[in-house]
Amino acid sequence: MKSLLNGPDQSSHVIPRHVGIIMDGNGRWARSRFMPRIWGHKRGADSVRETVKAAATSGVKVLSLFAFSDENWGRPVDEVSALMGLFDHYLSHEINALEQQNIRLRVMGNLERLPARTKALLLQASERLSVRSGMVLNLAVSYGARAEITDAVREIAQRIREGIIDPAHVDESLLASHLATAGLPDLDLVIRTSGEQRLSNFMLWQSSYAELYFTKVQWPDFGAEDFNAALQEFSSRQRRFGLVEQDLRAEHSHTSTVADATAGETLC
Ligand code: FPP
Repeated sequence: MKSLLNGPDQSSHVIPRHVGIIMDGNGRWARSRFMPRIWGHKRGADSVRETVKAAATSGVKVLSLFAFSDENWGRPVDEVSALMGLFDHYLSHEINALEQQNIRLRVMGNLERLPARTKALLLQASERLSVRSGMVLNLAVSYGARAEITDAVREIAQRIREGIIDPAHVDESLLASHLATAGLPDLDLVIRTSGEQRLSNFMLWQSSYAELYFTKVQWPDFGAEDFNAALQEFSSRQRRFGLVEQDLRAEHSHTSTVADATAGETLC
């Protein structure tokens, strides 16, 4: 069998268009080595680098990473500030590499809560990389799915009050167009590391029909080989979207073959 390090055997693989990752286990990884938690986050940034490369190489169109949740604001001040410093470092030092890989950067979450420098770096980087045409790297920072959906509902309610939207026209696609992921496909695959098996308020709307993949590997140990193993597992799952088998082909084409994945579709 071909090494998973070289990517899955793409000729026969169904590649998920949109993969989300809940990067978990940094703290436990560090603790088991008698190191401070931030050490785990630092090593986690190396895993981000490797995974972004693996995803882009595999033909995935969008990679969403849960980098910092709404709930993470409740962590000790030192850890929060070290994480913000790590984001700043990643954005300043990785931007050229991301550009070379033709990565488009998007960011979602409540950026108003971030330190001014982190917010500015995120906005500058996403602005600079918005013109690239390769894989979309969607960073969820200060993000919570319930807040995202609530914001969308508030925005729609406001437009209804202003007479811009007719309540009769409020449907799923209208709501989706007010989410932070407007223009992106729904998640096909959600990966969570470290053995935990829950979504923890991550992209709840977009993961409605996603395949879930849980691995015991802690995020700082996660790399290309683990990512490709998840793709391989995804490829072996049968997704029915609530239909029976024979209706599937006609109704849904949520995922891509490698040929589709390289066909130059535009995602905003
Ligand atoms: C969860 O592990 C991880 C986080 C809250 C932070 C994720 C951040 C990184 C991977 C750093 C780099 C990110 C980017 C985008 C450069 P945890 O701390 O909850 O682990 P634990 O459950 O073992 O305590």
